[in-house]
Amino acid sequence: MTARPPPRGVPFQDLLPANLLVEKSFFATARKLYRESAFSGGPYVESFERAFGAYLGSPHVLGLNSGTSAVHLALAALGIGPGDEVIVPAFTFVGSAWGILYCGAKPVFADVDPATACISAATVSAVMTRRTKAVIAVHLFGRPAPLAAIKRAIQGKGIALIEDAAQAHGARIGAKRAGAVGDIGCFSFYPSKNLGAAGEGGAIAVRDPAMADRIARLRNHGQKLRYHHDLTGYNYRMDGLQGLFLEKKLAYLERMNAARAKLAAAYLGGLRNEEVTPLGGGRDSVWHLFVCRAARRERLLVHLDKLGIGYGIHYPIILPELPPFRAFAGKPERYPASIALARSVVSLPLYYGMKTVQSDRVIDAVNGFT
Ligand SMILES: Cc1ncc(COP(=O)(O)O)c(C=O)c1O
Repeated sequence: MTARPPPRGVPFQDLLPANLLVEKSFFATARKLYRESAFSGGPYVESFERAFGAYLGSPHVLGLNSGTSAVHLALAALGIGPGDEVIVPAFTFVGSAWGILYCGAKPVFADVDPATACISAATVSAVMTRRTKAVIAVHLFGRPAPLAAIKRAIQGKGIALIEDAAQAHGARIGAKRAGAVGDIGCFSFYPSKNLGAAGEGGAIAVRDPAMADRIARLRNHGQKLRYHHDLTGYNYRMDGLQGLFLEKKLAYLERMNAARAKLAAAYLGGLRNEEVTPLGGGRDSVWHLFVCRAARRERLLVHLDKLGIGYGIHYPIILPELPPFRAFAGKPERYPASIALARSVVSLPLYYGMKTVQSDRVIDAVNGFT
């Protein structure tokens, strides 16, 4: 994940600086956890859940084993199943949508706003039917989706709003945080996320205590009382070590997000190549990724490769074109903005601990592309 770049190169990602922030305190407590054998769920996970809930302003947080599990459990807890439709962006990471298939429901793909890469009230309204039971709004790349407008569009129709905040830890939406605005908020703590685990992890944030109780049972084999399995359950519990690591790292999330915002500001101020345009609408972003559009993307990638500048393509294929989803796809004309993004996006290096000299090198490299 962090292959060493050539001498004047810049890696796309380096997680070590963030890991070092908590190394000492993590290992000091990890020994205690180890001796207590608090490996699956347990007090370290519960402590993280309380801390993350307080940070989000959400009364109930449930630690899970991944963000994919979070979206799945959100849908399962809402009772979504065959015959139901769930709206999800055509342009997002596939983990936003797997849960719909796991529940036997039908994914309905909404196009995104070309300026922000998030769904909008208009793109949701365009695909809403009387079978729609939920909308999964993804705060893609760290930029909040327009939830107030989406809420107005679905109001009174019995449609739940699920936030996929896997890429938006700490993003502000008015006075609230991403993940604490809709009916259910989903998070991933995959290591490269703004708040990343030392392995796999995820969480759900929810206001309704009955829903929290249901999700707690679903993640733990459908039981509340041991061996009383009242629901068809899953083993989606969070590891104790991840709970511990995440709580230590949560204390640095604001600092890490501020460092990301500073790098993004440097990019926005320094990039001057008309052929490589940063995505708009990043005002409230927590900059999980810094994404640009480039019409001659393949040429740009060759140029960056030569200079040892890392990059990513998030994402090269829209969901309706992936084999597991093709049966649910509409005509390509339904997702023009998503298709245009998939063909042109390129993500530049951005991570906590990246130095100014490195962002300057990336800026020079992009500005020097002809
Ligand atoms: C937007 C989005 N949704 C869902 C997921 C799934 O999370 P995980 O990889 O933890 O299963 C991810 C990240 O991987 C993501 O970026």
